[in-house]
This record gives sequence, C-alpha cells and structure tokens, in this order.
Amino acid sequence: MIQNHARFSKEILEDAGLTGIAVDITVMYHERLDCKGYTFGIKGDEISQYVRMASIVDVYDALTAERVYKAGMEPIKAFKILKQG
Ligand SMILES: [Fe+2]
Repeated sequence: MIQNHARFSKEILEDAGLTGIAVDITVMYHERLDCKGYTFGIKGDEISQYVRMASIVDVYDALTAERVYKAGMEPIKAFKILKQG
C-alpha cells in the first residue's frame, strides 16, 4: 500500500488539472537508477533529470527530518550518504 502512494498522487494531481513535469516527479520520485525503486520499476535514462533532482531532495529530507520515531540526521552526514549513493 505504501508503494502505491505515488500512483494515488497522480490521480489527485491530474484531477486538479496538473500535467507534465509536476506529475512525472510525483509519480516517479521513488524510482532509482539501478531499478531498485518503485512505482513502476523504471531505471536509468527512463528517469528524467527533474525526477532525479526531486529524488535527491526527497532522500535528503527523509534523512534530516525529525520524526516521532527518529531524530533528524545532521546535514553533513546526510550529504555524505547522498554522495555515496
Ligand atoms: Fe513518497
């Protein structure tokens, strides 16, 4: 169910009249270059530069954000993890 959230977001955005890059980013930002991501299991050049940038921002936010179940990571540590990936 969690992995379907991007697919559900597509329907909401399209119902609101949004198209193009905004929808692509929303649907694909959990995809990964090595095909280990989700919504559709696409990889490499199938993922646009815009989606790739949004994915980096999403991972950075996930690492540094305070959550009820974890403390936010220091930005420099998050950056090192992003560089390794
Ligand atoms: Fe998400």
